[in-house]
Amino acid sequence: MARFEGPKGAPDILPGDDKLPSELFQRVVRTGEDLFSRYGYRLIMTPLFEDTALFHRSLIETSEIVNKEMYTFEDRGGRSLTLRPEGTAPVMRAVLEHNLHRAGLPVKLYYTASTFRYEQPQAGRYRVFNQLGVEAIGTEGPDIDAEVIELAAKLYGALGLQPELILNSIGHPACRAEYLPKLVDFLRSHFDELCEDCRRRTETNPLRTFDCKVPRDREIMASAPLITDYLCGFCADHFDGVQNLLTSVGIKFRLEPRLVRGLDYYTRTTFTFLAAGLGAQDEIGGGGRYDGLSELLGGDPLPGIGFGLGIERIVLALRADGIQAPVGHDVYVAAAGDETRGKVFEIVTGLRSAGWAVDFDQTARSLKGQLRSADRIGATFTVIVGERELSEGRYTVRDMTTGEEQLVPQDQLTDYLRAQLARVD
Ligand code: HAM
Repeated sequence: MARFEGPKGAPDILPGDDKLPSELFQRVVRTGEDLFSRYGYRLIMTPLFEDTALFHRSLIETSEIVNKEMYTFEDRGGRSLTLRPEGTAPVMRAVLEHNLHRAGLPVKLYYTASTFRYEQPQAGRYRVFNQLGVEAIGTEGPDIDAEVIELAAKLYGALGLQPELILNSIGHPACRAEYLPKLVDFLRSHFDELCEDCRRRTETNPLRTFDCKVPRDREIMASAPLITDYLCGFCADHFDGVQNLLTSVGIKFRLEPRLVRGLDYYTRTTFTFLAAGLGAQDEIGGGGRYDGLSELLGGDPLPGIGFGLGIERIVLALRADGIQAPVGHDVYVAAAGDETRGKVFEIVTGLRSAGWAVDFDQTARSLKGQLRSADRIGATFTVIVGERELSEGRYTVRDMTTGEEQLVPQDQLTDYLRAQLARVD
């Protein structure tokens, strides 16, 4: 029978994998979740699919995601459902549905979420990918913007990455109402030179023309009017405030007035993080403010800001920097003969209770085979349980790096390992 292959653009995250090792994936998630909790964000989990209308409403009908990229299906009850193409609208839906905002503001939430977009797969661009995200909902002062951006920067730093932070403000709807006609006039005056997509965007979604990758269009856009020249006093002050706060804690950023992000709910502060060495898909995270989203979903005015970080892209960036997946067990326990296998299980259980990562053989391997397994899983020490040593109340402990062996009395094993492992740390 033919064997199956995973769907296109939906990578498996495998232990020990060269490109996307699950060990690094786990490190990213654990580091993120630990930091988010310390910053006062609490876990939210929303379903994998939502009412399709939620995304039509939040991402607007003309957006690329809604038009081309959603995994939409009808369930057996005839409802139209869509696999989550991004995390912010579902979180806002849940906040409004459960009135989380009535219990005090801001509502600070984080998530680790599988995300689905029917995009053309390529290196770093998948149809199923995972995001680490936070959303801070209910306040609009620049301090929460600075907190969210600093949090993302802190997470990258904790992982050993130094991506470039690109920052912009795209104003609120009133600033844009003044700006957009100027942009559309400009685009119309270059209409014949624009690519087909940008001609369409001129009428449907003019800001997105800044995202075009066609070289000729990029040249044209270099002289387009810029939103930052049309910010009202309020939005300009807000943006200054964000920049001052970031500077006060040593966060470096590059201002890019042409940064418009792919989602249409954004207002004011927008940002992305770009990693070197990743090629075209170098955006390892991004986010921004979405002050009108709650109203779009039928809720009270409830400003918000957040980010989504692409976990796979972060892992690729770590690998590009030569960072290896951490492997390793502290201890392997081997039986030098079948008679001692029962004892091995008892020792393993005791050492695991002491908090170490410990493993042993369950496939009746020879002692040589067990030592090979210990090597393969990166054990620092192997405890060898032989019948004669056992009868003398001792074990052999082998340092897997040097090959040196030491006879250790049974009742001193834990203390011995503790001292030795502290030394190698
Ligand atoms: P986004 O920029 O569409 O924003 O996605 C966030 C991150 O997900 C990107 O920066 C990138 O790292 C990663 N990503 C996006 N598409 C793919 C893909 N096809 N394959 C692999 N990784 C990908 C959002 O989704 C917003 N919800 C972020 C946000 C939260 N804004 C405010 N709050």
